[in-house]
This record gives sequence, C-alpha cells and structure tokens, in this order.
Amino acid sequence: MNHFKYRNNELYCEEVPVAKIAEEVGTPFYLYSHATITRHFNNFNNAFSKVKRLICYSVKANASAAILNLLNTLGSGLDIVSGGELFRGLKAGIPSDKIVYSGVGKRIDEIDYALETGILMFNVESLEELDLINTRAALLNRKAPVAIRVNPDVDPKTHPYISTGLKKNKFGIDIETAIKGYKTAKSLSHVDIIGIDCHIGSQITDIQPFSDALQSLKTLIKKLEELDIHIKYLDMGGGLGITYDDESPPQPGEYAEVIVSAIKDLSVQIILEPGRVIVGNAGILVTRALYKKKGSIKNFIIVDAGMNDLIRPTLYRAYHAVQPVNQGNEKWITADVVGPICETGDYLAQDRKIVEPGNGNLMAVMSAGAYGFMMSSNYCSRLKVPEVMVRDDQFHVIRERQTYEDLVTGESIPEFIGK
Ligand code: LLP
Repeated sequence: MNHFKYRNNELYCEEVPVAKIAEEVGTPFYLYSHATITRHFNNFNNAFSKVKRLICYSVKANASAAILNLLNTLGSGLDIVSGGELFRGLKAGIPSDKIVYSGVGKRIDEIDYALETGILMFNVESLEELDLINTRAALLNRKAPVAIRVNPDVDPKTHPYISTGLKKNKFGIDIETAIKGYKTAKSLSHVDIIGIDCHIGSQITDIQPFSDALQSLKTLIKKLEELDIHIKYLDMGGGLGITYDDESPPQPGEYAEVIVSAIKDLSVQIILEPGRVIVGNAGILVTRALYKKKGSIKNFIIVDAGMNDLIRPTLYRAYHAVQPVNQGNEKWITADVVGPICETGDYLAQDRKIVEPGNGNLMAVMSAGAYGFMMSSNYCSRLKVPEVMVRDDQFHVIRERQTYEDLVTGESIPEFIGK
C-alpha cells in the first residue's frame, strides 16, 4: 500500500493533503509516513521470522529522534557508526545490547563510550582497531564483544561511491587477514569473539552479490570452527535496494529466503542492518517552484530546495522522481529541476520530462526518506529544512526549520581581530 497517493488530483501522505502541511510549515520540508516506516520494518523483520534474528536499523539513513523512537517501539536494534549515533540511539530508548558498531575510524572516546554503555558488538575493521579495543577494554575493566568485518571482495554492482565490499574499498578485512585477526583476538585478554560481519554496499538490486558474500562468510566460519573459534552472530549488513525509478530489487521475502536457506546448517543468529529499505520510500522532499527559465538549449525549473537539502542527485547521479503536488495541468516539458545554489551541480533532476509547474506550485521529490535530510548541510548559509511525520490524519513537525540565529550559534570572534 502506497501512503503517498493522489486523491482528486491532490497528493496525500496517508490522510493528510501535502499542500495543507506546506501551508502551515512552509517549503522546503521533508515529509515521512508513519504507516510506511512501520510496514517496511515489519515486512523486513517478518521475512526472517523462521530464524533467530536481530534487525539493527542503520541510523545513518535517517537518525531523526521521532524515527528512532518509532523503530524502538517496533523492536528494532541499531547499526551505528559514531558516538553521535550511539547517543541518539540510547536517547531514543534503544537497548544498548541491540546496538552494533561499524566504521573504519572509531576514535578512542567513541570506543570508550560504546564499552561503557555495553553495546552488543563492535564490528572491527582493522587489526590495529582490534588491538586498541582490547587496550581500552582492559583499562575500563570490560570485555569487548567483537566481530570482524570481512571484506569478501564481491561486486555489488551499485554506484562506486556506495560499493564497500571490493578489495579496493577501505572497508573490512580480507579473508586471509581476518583469520589472522581471529587468531589474535582469541589470544587477547579483553575481547570476546562473538561474531562475523560484512556489508558489501548499498542500493543493491541483485540478489547474487549477497549470496556470494554469504558463501565466503560460511567458508570462513567453518575454518574458524576448526581453530576452535565459535561464531554466535552472523551480521550481513544492509544494502538491499529500493525502487527509485524502474529498478526491481529483490523483495525482503526473497532476500530473507536466500539468507535463511544459506545459514540453516550453521548455528548462528542473524543480524541485518537495513537502512534505505526501511525509510527510503517512506519520505519525500516537498519544494516550491520559484521561476522558469528558458535557456537556449535547456529549460530550467528553479525550485526552493537545492543540493544542500538533497545531495544524492549530484553526488551519485541518483534518480528521484519529481511529481506535482496538485495534478491537473497536463502540459509536459523536458527540463532541469535546479536549486538556488551557485553550483552547476545544484540540481534535483536533469533533462527530465515533468509536468510543467506554474510559479508557486508545489513539487514532490520522491523516495527521499533515506540519506536525504541526513546528508543535508548549511552550504550557502541555507537553513536546514523541517521534517514532518504524518500518522493517519495527524501531522507533527519532528524537527523545526533552522533559524538565522542557528546559523551562527557556537561561533565566536577572537579578540585579535581588528587589533
Ligand atoms: N551497515 C553499514 C555498515 C553501512 O555502512 C550501511 C550504509 C548500512 C548498513 C545501510 O545500508 P542500506 O541498507 O541503507 O543500503 N549515502 C548513500 C548511501 C551510503 C550507505 C553507507 N552505508 C546514498 O545516499 O545512496
């Protein structure tokens, strides 16, 4: 069930007209559907109902407090990559023993914070990190639960910036070195080996790379058994793709089937770290058309949202559908939908056939719930936009629009200026 749909030519989010929210909140803003997030999480979780599993939502996709609180009520754990994400997760009430911590550059203060709060496991990304975690755990008189993030060298066939499981990527540890890492870990006094982890990339629309990665992990688990190293948790990371345009990614059921049948001869508990598949299609970015300009070879629709609000189109050449909030005008044009920022890369869509908006008309940039607001910035001193969540016929501003004062908060002028 799609919770962003037209009724009498007007786009609704659940039971609320998008235009009504725009009137109260102003534009641009991000808009999320409570029902969609809930359905996506439950679908994903239920797809694995045959096995013991822990779904650790990947906070980086969307870390807003309301979303984390909602996922907590649904029983989600978290995949984090920073002290800040740990702070947010704990604040949202997620139990620390449902939190896994990945990332190639964990700092000492972040490691200590995670040790003190008692997370489920560190996904270790280098032998040096393993050593540091052991040292810090010893100092804090703890035992650090660890998994090694293995780089299985499979091609996820996605955008190169979001491929993570190839030899040339900075992530994880290759299989041979991982065996060395496990042997070392076994000899360390303050780490407990509990898992094995991989994450091969994001927006993956083909099932094969997942099953290839899983086969490598299985072989490794068996080798480790021979070394008397027993793995309790197998963390498959995230990465399942969604439909932005005409992609047809595996559905959670198909994805789960492949994983569940591959692990049936192992006695491991599965951990998954979905991000995009939970929130991507649960959110849109609403913007207003400001001007139209006919260049000599192109048409431009200039809107009030820019690359600072949604960087995916320019960073990854990602496709986001752009739709009118009010239908009725049937005049189509081919145009670039661009923002107000002084960069040629400031576009939301390029050479796109769209319904021509009148100035002042609202437009919806679809599938913007994952890596949308989270990657937004204050570039050009533009204010970060509000986020709104709808549930049935209610809506709530879950994050306010920034103010000009917010832009200068924390800045200070040294006395030596002007001396
Ligand atoms: N686990 C780890 C260790 C990750 O690094 C990521 C994403 C995930 C889980 C969640 O992946 P997902 O299920 O969302 O694909 N900014 C990019 C995506 C970067 C993904 C980084 N890692 C984008 O806008 O497409």
